[in-house]
Formats: sequence, structure tokens, C-alpha cells
Amino acid sequence: MNVSEIQTIEHDVVVIGAGGAGLRAAIECSAQGLDTGLLSKSLLGKAHTVMAEGGMAAALGNVDSRDNWQIHFRDTMRGGKFLNDWRLAEIHAREAPERVNELEEWGAVFDRTKDGLISQRNFGGHRYPRLAHVGDRTGLELIRTLQDHGVHQGIAMHMECAALALLKDGERIAGVAAYWRETGRFVIFRTKAVILATGGAGKAWRVTSNSWEYTGDGLAMAYDAGAELMDLEFTQFHPTGMVWPLSVRGILVTEGVRGDGGILKNSEGDRFMFDYIPERFAAETADSVEEATKWLDAVEGARRPPELLTRDVVARAITAEVKAGRGSPHGGVFLDIASQRPADFIKRKLPSMYHQFQELAEVDITAESMEVGPTLHYFMGGVRVESESQQSRVPGLFACGECAAGLHGANRLGGNSLSDLIVLGTRAGLGAKEYVDRLSAMPTPDDAQIESIYRDATDILNRDSGANPYLLHEKLQDVMGDSVGIVRHADDLQRGIEELGKLQRESETLHAVGTSQFNPGWNQAIALRSLLTVSEAVARSALAREESRGAHTRLDFEGERDEGLSYNVVIRRATDGRMEVEKLARPEPPAELAEIAHASIEDLEAGRVGTQAGS
Ligand code: FUM
Repeated sequence: MNVSEIQTIEHDVVVIGAGGAGLRAAIECSAQGLDTGLLSKSLLGKAHTVMAEGGMAAALGNVDSRDNWQIHFRDTMRGGKFLNDWRLAEIHAREAPERVNELEEWGAVFDRTKDGLISQRNFGGHRYPRLAHVGDRTGLELIRTLQDHGVHQGIAMHMECAALALLKDGERIAGVAAYWRETGRFVIFRTKAVILATGGAGKAWRVTSNSWEYTGDGLAMAYDAGAELMDLEFTQFHPTGMVWPLSVRGILVTEGVRGDGGILKNSEGDRFMFDYIPERFAAETADSVEEATKWLDAVEGARRPPELLTRDVVARAITAEVKAGRGSPHGGVFLDIASQRPADFIKRKLPSMYHQFQELAEVDITAESMEVGPTLHYFMGGVRVESESQQSRVPGLFACGECAAGLHGANRLGGNSLSDLIVLGTRAGLGAKEYVDRLSAMPTPDDAQIESIYRDATDILNRDSGANPYLLHEKLQDVMGDSVGIVRHADDLQRGIEELGKLQRESETLHAVGTSQFNPGWNQAIALRSLLTVSEAVARSALAREESRGAHTRLDFEGERDEGLSYNVVIRRATDGRMEVEKLARPEPPAELAEIAHASIEDLEAGRVGTQAGS
């Protein structure tokens, strides 16, 4: 292979992934004067961002003026079971209002309050109505707005271009080896910095809200390049995905349905969430579970129903109801908004849900209940980054959005993802700008590395026979569903890791029929390598965390352990190529932020605590 004959494109910075985080990072880089390239393995606008339907969280205080960044920060830390990176959670809560207002200036058309302000709705774990929204299409509007802004700002968009590996010059980033999915031709991007914004790896599970793109490419590439992955044991199962018909199982049913009044019932007609109020929540809210139940069931306005407990709690409750034989006919539970809200309200506030159920399941949600169940939705863990700049430990490699770790701790609150994308996407852009400004020259990728990457990719086509990528993917989903599901046990995890090892070995013989021109089998085989790496990292992280915290539930280690707060599980590639797991000690929380997280709501509302924190 003659590397000099491969198409080469040069940018100051390359952003991989064109969802909300990638777009916002690219906009910032470009606004800072960097020549910016944006790679999307899919078509522009086709991102998991659109699956955050119900809104973006920001303490604007438009619907309840008692809200402020300190209470948003406190909610985020509590939702994340205090495992969040404190500084990231602070930056996020402080900067979200500014970023949301900026989106509006750039043309996002939010729903309005009667006074003409951006409207905000209730969501799980948020003390006040905090989610700025556009009906139930908020992620779509965010993407539309950023795309429009980015295109007009002159970002170079490279669509249907899939990254294979990160290129290095010594220790630092020097480029990206990629290929055009349509033609199969290779392309090298030479660059000073790379920002990963590739989302999670939901496709390792069969029931997921993620679409085909979410195969953990960024996580695997970062790992291969020497970055660390952190908190991967925390995989979020959104409580409400469609369960029927089977062909659409896993598609998201927005939390906005519950935020706007929808309730959950089992097959006996019981509103079962009242039976699953966690002790800790009860203790924080009232004197007893009974009191907390009354508080949750209070009159409209002050109402935060038990259906809006955090996602980890609701997803586990649904799983328990189904297991106890009180599920719906197709293995979920019932979500009912029809009996709670008039039809015109439902059609106005939840138009996509109305059409989704009408068209995919022939269910009229203004008259009937929906059948719903947990669906793998989100990775709280990801690339370990430095909190001010989003830089990984590899010089020049940044990450933001779902593929970066830290902000959400053990469990993400709904609505905090869209605000994460715009706040930390901006920060990643600024971090990359600072890094690029310090470089004197364009780094030079290593030809031998490039040759080996492309040889590995073409081997899949050149073999006469070997493992079928589609069947291997099915086997992987079986292993992850059986061994690394919503509840976990050491025996299952051990078995899962062994099975994944066998699949890894099988993947060395992957074979796709045909040429490299738009070849779905070849694309699938390439994506499988990332999925296998990330799946193993998730299973090993889950085995290492011997407690139950947030989205990580261990049957053999019930409840949170004090020790669990003292470390993050970190994964890195050892020099001998093995996957290394470390329980990395966490620094002490900054005193002023700890004070806010543990303060009473009354003190925070009155501004008696936290007004001096941070900068
Ligand atoms: O339910 C939803 O609309 C999802 C929101 C999110 O994941 O943030």
C-alpha cells in the first residue's frame, strides 16, 4: 500500500460525530478561527441527540422562580449518587442557561409560557420544572439549529465518512484514518487536535433507543490511542421504550409523557411506583416513606409524582413488576396519559408520541395506555477528561457529550444530556483552540500505523471465509443482554467476559462478501470491533464495582457502600495489550460545592448557601 496515494485532507481540528456535542464543539472551534472539519459516519442531523425528546435542563427559573444553578447542581449530584465530577457538574449547572439562551438567539423555537418566556417542564429528579422544550422534539430542534448555524459558519462537513483509528505523532494526536462509506475509499485527515463526540455504544444490546450508528467507535478509538475510559459500568436503561410491536421494541417513549402527567400502572391497575420509593429519597424529602408518598402525591403545581423518581429507580421498578407477573401482555407495563390529560393537550405537547404510537403500534394515546419497558439509552461513562478543557490524557485528544465521562456520575437525570452537549461541547472547542494555539507545526502521522490500519480493514474483504458480522453482532447482543443487563451478578459478569473473549477471537476472522463499495456487511464488521472492545470494558467495569449505585445494580452487592464513593473504575490498555482495570482514587470534593450539594433547599432558594462557589 502506498500511503502517499491515499486522499489526504488537512484541518486544524477534526470533530468526529455530528450530534449536538460535535456540532457545538465544531461551531466553537470555527468561531475561534480554527479550520474545522466535522466527520459524520451517517447523514447530518441523524444523531442520538434527537432521542432526547423532552427537553434540556437549565435553571432559567421561568416557570418556578425559586430555581437557580445551585439547586440544579444539587439535583445533578444527587441523581448521579455523588459520583459525578464535582467541577463538571458545577460548570454544567452554571453555564446551561447561557447556552440555552444562545440557542434561542440562533433560531431555536421553544415552547412558551403565558408570559412569552421559554417554557419549562417537569422531569425526573429535577426539583422544579426545568426542561426547556419544543413539544417532544427538543433534540431535533437543537440539531436543526446547530446545523443551520454551523453550515453558515463555514465548517467543512464530511458526511458518510467513518473513522477507523486515531493517528499519532509520538504521544500526541496527528490525524484520523477514515473511509467514505459510499465508495469504500480511504481518506486520511491530518490535524492538530481531534474532538470525539461519537456518543455511546447502545447497539451492544438488542433492546435500545440507539440507532445503528451507536457502536462505541469513539470510545474504542480513544482506548486504542492510549486514553482512559471511566465509569463504564453505569449504563442507563431509560424506563420507557416501546415494547410492541417487536420490530420497534426499544424506541424511546419520552419522559415528557410522565413529566406532563402520565402515570405508570401494572396489569392489576395499580400505580405501582408508590411501592418503590427509595429510603434515601424518603429521608431527604420527609420523615418517612409514608410522608414522602404524601409529598409525591400532593396537589397539582407542587406535584412531583413517583413516576418522576430518577430513571434507575423507575427502570428497576418496571423490571420487578414484570418479573412478579404483573406486566402488560408484551412484557412491559402501562403508561397512561389518556386518563390524566385532555386529548388536545396530549396532541399539542406530545405530537411525536401521538404519531409514533398511532403509526407504529396502532394505539391512540389520547384514548388508550401505551405498553412500555426499559431500553438501553445512554452511557454515563466514557473517555476520562480533564474538567476545564475536556482533554483526555492523550495530548490533542478531546471528548464531549455522551462519549465523555464525569458529569453524570452513576445516573444521568433526563434533560441533562442536551444541556451537557451544548455546555461541554463549547468547552471542548475552547480547550482544542487553546491546545492548537500552543502547537508550532502540524504533527506528522506514522505511515506504518496507517498501513496497518487499512490492511486490517481490507483483510475483512480479502478472506475467503470467516465469521459473519451479522451473526456475530447477534451473539454479542445475547451476551450483553444475559450477562450485563439491568441487574448484574459476578457469576454472570465472569461468564459474559469469557463469552466476549470467544467473540473477540472469532472477530479476528470476520469476513464480508463483496467489494468495499457501499458494503453494509463490511461496515458492520468494522463497527463490531469497537462494540466488542467497549462491551468488554463495560463488563469488566461492572465486575470491579462491588456495590449497587445508580444505574449499576449488583444482586450480589446490594445497596451503596461508603467505599464506592472513593474511586472511579478506569479502563486502559496495558503495554502488553491487555485491558487493565483500576479503581482510581477520587479527589476530595471542593468544600464549597460539597456545602451546596448537602444544603437544604430552603437555604439554596434563599441564596444563603453557595453564592461564592467556583468561578
Ligand atoms: O425521555 C426523553 O425525552 C429523554 C431525554 C434524555 O435522555 O435526556
